[in-house]
Parts: sequence; C-alpha cells; structure tokens
Amino acid sequence: MTARSQLTFQLFRWVSGMALAAGMVHGAAAADAVVGAPATLAAPPNADQIARGAYLAKAADCIACHTVDPAKPFAGGYPLATPFGTIYGPNITPDKETGIGSWSDEDFIRALHNGIDEEGKHLYPAFPYASFTKLSRDDVLAIKAYLFSLPPIQQKNLENNLPFPLNQRWILAGWNLFNFKPGEWKDDAGKSPEWNRGAYLVEGLAHCQECHTPRNLTMGVDLKRSFGGAQLGGWTAFNITPDPVSGIGGWKDEEVVQYMKTGLVPGKASAAGGMAEAIEHSLQYLSDADLKAIVAYMRSVPAISDAADKKPRYAWGKPADDDADLRGVAAVSVSSNASSGAELFSGNCASCHSASGSGVVGGYYPSLFSNSVVGAREPGNLLMVILNGVQRRGKDDEAFMPGFADHLNDAQIATLANYILKQYGHADAPAITPEVVKTQRHGGPVSPMLSLLPWGLAAAALIVVFILFSLFTRRRRNPDSPHSPRNPPK
Ligand code: HEC
Ligand code: HEC
Ligand code: HEC
Repeated sequence: MTARSQLTFQLFRWVSGMALAAGMVHGAAAADAVVGAPATLAAPPNADQIARGAYLAKAADCIACHTVDPAKPFAGGYPLATPFGTIYGPNITPDKETGIGSWSDEDFIRALHNGIDEEGKHLYPAFPYASFTKLSRDDVLAIKAYLFSLPPIQQKNLENNLPFPLNQRWILAGWNLFNFKPGEWKDDAGKSPEWNRGAYLVEGLAHCQECHTPRNLTMGVDLKRSFGGAQLGGWTAFNITPDPVSGIGGWKDEEVVQYMKTGLVPGKASAAGGMAEAIEHSLQYLSDADLKAIVAYMRSVPAISDAADKKPRYAWGKPADDDADLRGVAAVSVSSNASSGAELFSGNCASCHSASGSGVVGGYYPSLFSNSVVGAREPGNLLMVILNGVQRRGKDDEAFMPGFADHLNDAQIATLANYILKQYGHADAPAITPEVVKTQRHGGPVSPMLSLLPWGLAAAALIVVFILFSLFTRRRRNPDSPHSPRNPPK
C-alpha cells in the first residue's frame, strides 16, 4: 500500500461505520461532463497570480494524488488503494476533453470548497475538501490559474473500482451532514498574524489533521482529539500535540522546522511513509516563515496525553552492541537464513546503522535509539520501515533505505523487530508475532467496523426515515404553522 493510499484508507474507513460512502465511475463522469459546458470568462491571470498558485498547490500537495507518471504532472491515474477497492485521482490538467479545461472558476471553487464536481456530483472525501474548504477564494483561484497555465495533457480518467453501495455518490451527502463543516478560514483577531497563517496552513492547505487526527464512528475527524495520532494503513501518524511526553512538546521549534524541511532530525526522528511523501512533494518547498508559522500554531493546539506513554518516543534506548556474542557464528553473512535477532541485525542493518545502532554521527544514517519510530509504543511504523524501507527525495539529496519485504520472512522480521525494540527502543512494547508482521505486510489491521457495514446501512436508512417522519409530523403538529388545523388558510 502506498503512503498516499494510507490517507485514503483512513478517509475511507468511515464508510463501514456509517455506510454513507458512495462513488461511481468518477473519471468517466468527468470526461462526459465537459461536453457543452462553456467556461466562464474571468479576468486573465497574471504572472504573480500563477506563481502564487504554484506555491499554494505545493503547500496543498495537489501533485501527490493527481500524478502517476512524473512526466505527466497532474494528469491523474494515481491509484489510491482502499479496503473497498481502488479510487483514482483524476486528471486536473486544463485538457478540455479528459481534464478540467472546461471548468469555470465557480466549478473549481465549488469542488475545493464543497467537494462537488462540475456536474453537481459529490466527490469522495479522499479528496481533502473538508480541509480545502478553509482556503480563501483568492487562493483557490490562484491554484486554478496555476493549473490552467500548465500544458493540457490528454489522459483519460480511470474508472473507480468500488462495490455497491459504496459506488453511490449521493450517500456522501449523509457523510457531509455529520462530518463536513464548509466555510473559509476566518482570522482570529486576538491572535498574531503568524498564528493565523499557521492555522490556515495546518487546517487548510497542508491538511495535517487528515492524517494525524483519529476518526470518529462516522469516520469524520474526531476534533476532540485533534492531532492526537491516528492509524493509517499500517502506519501511525504520531501524536503531534504539544504534550511533552505523548506529543512533540519536547522538540525545539527549530527541530520541528528542520523535520518538515529535511525529514531528518538526529536524536529525534526521521520521516518515512506518508510523512516522507508530504515532505518530498510539499513541506520542503515552504518558506521558513510559513514553516515557523506552522510550528507557532501547532504549539497552541490542546495537548493530548496518553497515560500509557511513559517517556517521549525519542527518549528510549541507548547504544548496544551484540557483536561480541556473534563471534564464531558462521551464518552472520547469510542474512536470510539467520535466526537470532543479533544475527539478523548484524547481517542486514549494521552496515548502515552501525553495530551499536548509533548510525553515523549527525549524518545520513540515523541512530536507532533516540528515534521516534523505534521508541513508539505502537511497533507498526518500525515494521513498515523494515518491510518497505525509506525513500524520500529532498531538493538536492535523497534518503534511501532498501525494504526487506522480499528478503526476510514474517518470522525473521518479528525476531529482528523484537531484538531492535529490546536493544534500542520501547522496552515494554508488546512482543511482535509473525502474524502481526503478516498483517502489516498487507497494509495494517482492517477496521473492525468493516463487519458493521450492513448494520451501518440499516442505521442510515432508519435515520433517513426518522428525519422524514419527524419533518412530516412537525408540520402537522406545530400550532403556529400556517398549515396547522388551528390556523386554517383564510
Ligand atoms: C490526498 C489526495 C488528494 C490531494 C492532496 C488532492 N486531491 Fe484532488 N482529488 C483526489 C481524489 C481521489 C479525487 C477524486 C474524488 C472522486 O472521485 O470523488 C480528487 C478530485 C479532484 C477534483 C475533481 C476533478 C474531477 O474531474 O471531478 C479536482 C478539481 C481536484 N481534485 C483538485 C485538487 C487540487 C487543486 C488539489 C490541491 C489543492 C488537490 N486536488 C489535492 C485526491 C486528492
Ligand atoms: C499523508 C499523511 C500525513 C500528512 C498530510 C502529515 N503527516 Fe505528519 N506524519 C505522518 C506519518 C505517517 C508520520 C510518522 C512518520 C514515520 O514513522 O517516519 C508522521 C510524523 C510526523 C512528525 C514526527 C513525529 C515524531 O514523533 O516522530 C511530525 C512533527 C509531523 N508528522 C508533523 C506534521 C505536520 C505539521 C503536518 C502538516 C503540515 C503533517 N505532519 C502532515 C503522516 C502525515
Ligand atoms: C543501505 C543502508 C541501510 C540499511 C542496510 C538499513 N537502513 Fe535503516 N535507514 C537508512 C536510511 C538512509 C534511513 C533514513 C534516514 C533519513 O530519514 O534521512 C534509515 C532509517 C531507518 C529507521 C528510521 C525510520 C523513520 O521513519 O524514522 C529505522 C527504524 C531503520 N532505518 C531501521 C533499519 C533496520 C531495522 C534495518 C535492517 C533490517 C535497516 N534499517 C537497514 C539506511 C539503511
């Protein structure tokens, strides 16, 4: 499962709870719809507006979900795997036939602000319109001006592949009712301009909550636990509230900025999975002022602490060296046949992270102790890193660790991970079994809500009946109503 799919996975789990999701062949719809819908003529964009739009599109990471072939940016086709099937980011280049070339300004604004396409159909919340609704009209139009300044690319949209009833887009109206608050961001006059800018970036453009906030029963973000950490397709997007133990309260401001800019803060954390993608395509391009604004805002959100966290993720572990125990063990170099944790570590990991797990001081290979992934209470990210490695392109360098999914089996990875946790990490983490590794290989545990799908559907139907019924009886009973028998029309 790709990192972006994890976001979608997260966004889609609500369906099983409420059965309010729906979808249909979105791509085909977009292609059909262009026929005959003339674009509204607006003021011609100028170079400044286009440059501003380019920056905003980076901050919003539009390219990540709308590009499959880097040679065809924004031409769509990016598969977002969900537990229910695949959904494809559509072509948003100005191609009139297969992209959004015929969309008016108002069509585009309605998509980003309300999650509705130019035909009036609901878009899936995998498209983070619940965050983009906070963008100003000006900014949305700048993004459009930028997209429309790019060469149109003809590439037909792929049909989403979702089963009934999830392919019924109208059900999304129900999800919106419970989980979507439309409305542009309004500055808080009592707060500094920096704080307001940070809030706009975090809550709107950079949509941090979509990954870092857990979902409620109806799969909307649970605003009572904003930024409190969430599961997405095998990964945990950690608690990033200012709590000093469970969150990132112990990080210096400069460290959080450095993390968003480079993905690596020695002694604290490095970024893999969805965070690596957010940094690669988006956050590293933000100005220092914007990154500082993000931190200023994040410092002000309510701290969320979890009693199970005894010390910060980055504060676990110390250098440890078992090489002495391995002297005389012939199998060390035959890594995939190795059986003990120490042998597996020595054969597969020590070459880069060093025999003591210290990595290279201040350098390219991080230490495995004082590392948030190894010190986390949930071992999911450690397993995902071992399985999938780390790939993160910076402006002028690249962090690369190979994945071991094809090289080590589930039992070996379990042995290795337990060893790493004991040597360098969260000492009281529960033991990892080969079954846990197997689940992680397939994108993490499936939401237990999935099995509630039929009940969710029945509940949704009941709610609709109830609402209709109560509207009807209210009309009949309200004595002040002009239609009430007490006020017969004269
Ligand atoms: C996390 C992934 C993700 C990000 C980030 C994202 N999109 Fe999308 N977008 C999607 C998906 C998936 C769809 C299709 C939803 C559907 O089929 O209902 C979509 C649909 C759209 C549509 C509707 C197109 C059509 O043909 O109906 C537009 C316009 C759009 N996105 C623009 C943007 C812009 C502009 C940005 C950045 C500001 C952006 N998207 C960022 C995933 C994303
Ligand atoms: C696509 C999903 C996604 C988005 C969007 C996202 N994050 Fe993350 N974030 C993650 C994941 C997953 C991790 C864990 C990374 C790892 O294990 O290497 C993470 C880790 C982090 C960490 C490191 C915490 C630690 O203790 O190691 C910080 C800080 C952070 N994110 C801040 C942010 C901020 C601020 C934003 C918005 C500007 C943001 N993230 C947007 C998924 C996301
Ligand atoms: C070829 C060199 C290489 C090998 C071999 C290697 N790693 Fe890594 N590892 C890296 C690099 C590079 C990074 C990422 C540094 C960064 O994010 O800037 C990394 C990062 C990590 C992280 C932190 C990831 C995060 O999101 O914070 C962990 C944990 C890790 N490696 C564990 C292992 C384990 C366990 C093994 C053996 C199975 C291993 N590594 C083998 C190079 C390597």
